[in-house]
Formats: sequence, structure tokens, C-alpha cells
Amino acid sequence: MLGMPPQYMKLSNTIINLLGHHAPMDEIVDGVLAILRAIWLMVPMLIPNSAAVLFGGGTPVDFGRKMKDGTRILGDGKTWRGLAGGTLSGMVLGLIQVGIMTALDVPSWTYDPCILCTVFILFLLAFGSMFGDMLGSFLKRRIKIARGAKAPGLDQYDFLIGTLILIIPIEWAWFYENMIDGIYWVGFIGLIILIPFMHRAMNIIGFKMGKKDVPW
Ligand code: CTP
Ligand code: MG
Repeated sequence: MLGMPPQYMKLSNTIINLLGHHAPMDEIVDGVLAILRAIWLMVPMLIPNSAAVLFGGGTPVDFGRKMKDGTRILGDGKTWRGLAGGTLSGMVLGLIQVGIMTALDVPSWTYDPCILCTVFILFLLAFGSMFGDMLGSFLKRRIKIARGAKAPGLDQYDFLIGTLILIIPIEWAWFYENMIDGIYWVGFIGLIILIPFMHRAMNIIGFKMGKKDVPW
């Protein structure tokens, strides 16, 4: 709320009162800021799947092998190049974000004061995202959903689950301090609610660019 010109404060309070609420403006702004912050900090988790579409191709992660059930372990949609390109893109973007927020002197929108710790957290966010995506494909193959076919729910949240599987046990303190503590949990819940919309938007962009065969 700091720095908001008083005339805008008055205007927004008036709008809220007109809507019949008496919610303190501060709390709404803090909540929106918490959501924006959660999205910002989770960019290194959100981007790898799209980057994998750009960088992907070549040797599949499962080297073409099948399970005893006769179906591929992961399928041709999961490649080493996609895995490496996705993970590195997320990490590089994260470091650029840290540079921006350090230059702007906003340490609360960076990961950790220690740069090696930051790199490690970025790795968990980005690799975890790709790991979750592979976990999703593994499950899809086991229930005989073909490569590229829809799996509602799994397609939207597999990368988040993958990241959480790694970050919660390995960097619990970071997760707690940045995604749960104080008002930050509001940001995290907001992010979870927004993920399907962001996922859809990214896939439509990938489809329009001719990088994805299907818009999901
Ligand atoms: N991709 C890749 N390597 C990865 C992840 C993705 O090469 N580790 C590329 C592939 O070209 C893939 C595309 O990104 O086709 C889209 O990814 P995704 O939708 O996750 O894969 P699908 O082809 O839909 O396969 P699946 O059914 O296994 O999800
Ligand atoms: Mg897919």
C-alpha cells in the first residue's frame, strides 16, 4: 500500500464501499501482491514445460523402452533435450529475475541472499517441474493414454506436483517462509487457482506458433 497516491486510495475505497463491502483496502492489495509475488517466484517452475516444447526433440528420456505392460515408459514426448533445455531455461530466467529484483532493491522478491542457495532452489523449481511432467507422462502411459492425448488435471498440475515433491522435503524452510508464512499462503493458493489458465494460455501460444500439435 505504501506509495499509493491518496486520491487513488479514496477512489478504490469508494468502489469497494459501493460494492457493499467494508473490506480493508490494505488486505486486498496485500493479497494481490502476494499472488503476483508467488507467480514471480514460481516463474522458474512455470516456464520449463513451454521451453521443453521449443528445445525438445531427439533421443527420448526412456530411450524408446517399454514396460512389461507393453507400453512405453514415458513416450516420445519426453526427450533429453527437452529435459535439459527446460531445466536450464527455468534456472537462467530465475537468475535474470534475481538480477532485476536486486537492481530494484526488492530482496523479498528474490530467493535467498546466498547465490549458491538461490541456484539450488532454482534447480529444484525448474528440474522439479520437468520431473513432474515426466511423472505425469509415466502415469498416462500406465493407464494407456497415448502420447499427446489429454489427461485433464494431470496435464495442468503434474509440474507443480513434481516441484512440490522435491522442494517440500529438501527446502522446507524456503517453502514455508515464501509460500506459507504470513500472507504468502494467499499468494500460493492464488497461484494454484491461476495455473490452469496460465497453462491453457501458454499451450495456445505454442499451438499458434506451430510448436505444439494440439492446443493443450
Ligand atoms: N518435450 C520434450 N521433452 C520433455 C518435455 C516436453 O521434448 N521433457 C516436448 C515434446 O516435443 C512434447 C512437447 O514438448 O511433445 C509437449 O510436451 P507435453 O505436452 O508434456 O508432451 P506430450 O507430447 O503431450 O506427451 P505426453 O502425453 O507424454 O504428455
Ligand atoms: Mg501434452
